[in-house]
Amino acid sequence: MPRPKITIHLDEPLGQIAPELYGQFCEHLGACVDQGIWVGCDSKIANIDGLRRDVIEALRRIRVPVMRWPGGCFADDYHWMDGVGPRERRPRTVNLWWGHTIETNGFGTHEFMRFCELVGCKPYLAGNLGSGTVREMRDWVEYCNFAGDSSLARLRGANGSPYPFNVKYWGVGNENWGCGGNFCPEDYAAEYKRYATYLRDFGGTELFLIACGPDSGRAEYHADWTRRFFKKLGSFNRIHGLAAHYYCGTAGTATEYSTSQWYELLERAGRMDDVIRAHRAIMDEFDPQRRIGLLVDEWGTWHPPAPGRNPAHLWQQNTLRDALVAGITLNIFNNHAADLVMCNIAQTVNVLQAMCLTDGDRLVLTPTYHVFDLYQSHQGGTALRTTVESPGVSFVAGDERRTMPALTASASSRGGALTLSITNADATLPQEVELDLRGGGGSSLGEATVHVLAHEDLTAHNTFDEPDVLRPRRDDAALTKNVLRLPAAAVTAIRSPA
Ligand code: AHR
Repeated sequence: MPRPKITIHLDEPLGQIAPELYGQFCEHLGACVDQGIWVGCDSKIANIDGLRRDVIEALRRIRVPVMRWPGGCFADDYHWMDGVGPRERRPRTVNLWWGHTIETNGFGTHEFMRFCELVGCKPYLAGNLGSGTVREMRDWVEYCNFAGDSSLARLRGANGSPYPFNVKYWGVGNENWGCGGNFCPEDYAAEYKRYATYLRDFGGTELFLIACGPDSGRAEYHADWTRRFFKKLGSFNRIHGLAAHYYCGTAGTATEYSTSQWYELLERAGRMDDVIRAHRAIMDEFDPQRRIGLLVDEWGTWHPPAPGRNPAHLWQQNTLRDALVAGITLNIFNNHAADLVMCNIAQTVNVLQAMCLTDGDRLVLTPTYHVFDLYQSHQGGTALRTTVESPGVSFVAGDERRTMPALTASASSRGGALTLSITNADATLPQEVELDLRGGGGSSLGEATVHVLAHEDLTAHNTFDEPDVLRPRRDDAALTKNVLRLPAAAVTAIRSPA
């Protein structure tokens, strides 16, 4: 068998990797916001203005560019006025979607903005189209962004923020084919137009309005929703983005799976590529100038409920397999730099494919966090076309025998520095990969650093008692001239200096 080979075409830029492709999503769901982000100012857990210090520091380290809030399904039953003003007077509301938990509304607009400020990321607000009103969403924009002397701007000032928040990203509903109102695409398009008409730019903040895309879990539904939505939208142009969601789901459970199930899930993660291609192709029919950007504003694994946890709270462990899902998916995003404007993994803390898990005052970083860390130098870089000659792996899913490539890769350059990230999905075989840098007039990986996230146990994960079972280790010796040795089941990042 010929040696696996990765060719980086240094003279074939694909476009800038928007930092926003490394975005996050946090919802009022289980312990994501309450306990995961917000503990309140009187908490014994170290906090800044009620926000967990350890989570803020962890997210700062991976340079989170943008944070989507307050949902998810929760967004279409969230009334933003419940979350402003003196906390002791805020209403206690029932979270309809996620276990009928009582929301104290202690974490509202101002707390979210402060969180974003501390993390150093941009806010992305998902508005309520399902159970809200046009006036409510239009008022939220004014409250956040108007600098003049209106009553809503005064109210914002009285609540502690005289200066506007200047929020650019606004979702006009969420999953409106389902939890966001059960609309058909035509009815949603009509509602979208009505809402977007009244969502206005104030001052220098030009809104980026995001429409809900299809249920990507059902292939036959993608094209239908997106085409019918754009058809009905016609020439209406207050739309800047369309947001697809794609969860690769699970195979087995979060921490118990066979080798076949390992591959089954990783293969499904790889289908993100089809989701992006399919959506972009339909959008190109209606918007050939690409004025409207494509987002994937929810993605990740979704495992069965963890034993002993509230199934409505979507808490799950995160293993080496989730790390591979993240590595494969982020490689796809980088390679689609020209097709995507934002992507947000679900969800930041304690829910689904989280970055961090918390338990009281303890915090553990997940393998997925480490992948975001390893890949962070791709943010803002220029994606370079990369071709991968990979051995295949063969596995059985259900009654079917399938194959998938063992390797995926993406590369980018920034300020003369090169980042190359590679996943090896092969559960047992290490790989010796030839790296070929073409068209760069003598560029090399000579002084490169190599970091590897790997483990011989496919189900390895970090726990509160053993938080460092999986963490990247530096292994520059893995690269000799142009040959890179990759362990089995690994995510690797190589960085050459500028
Ligand atoms: O992330 C969990 C849920 O998944 C979100 O609330 C919803 O938008 C999606 O179905």
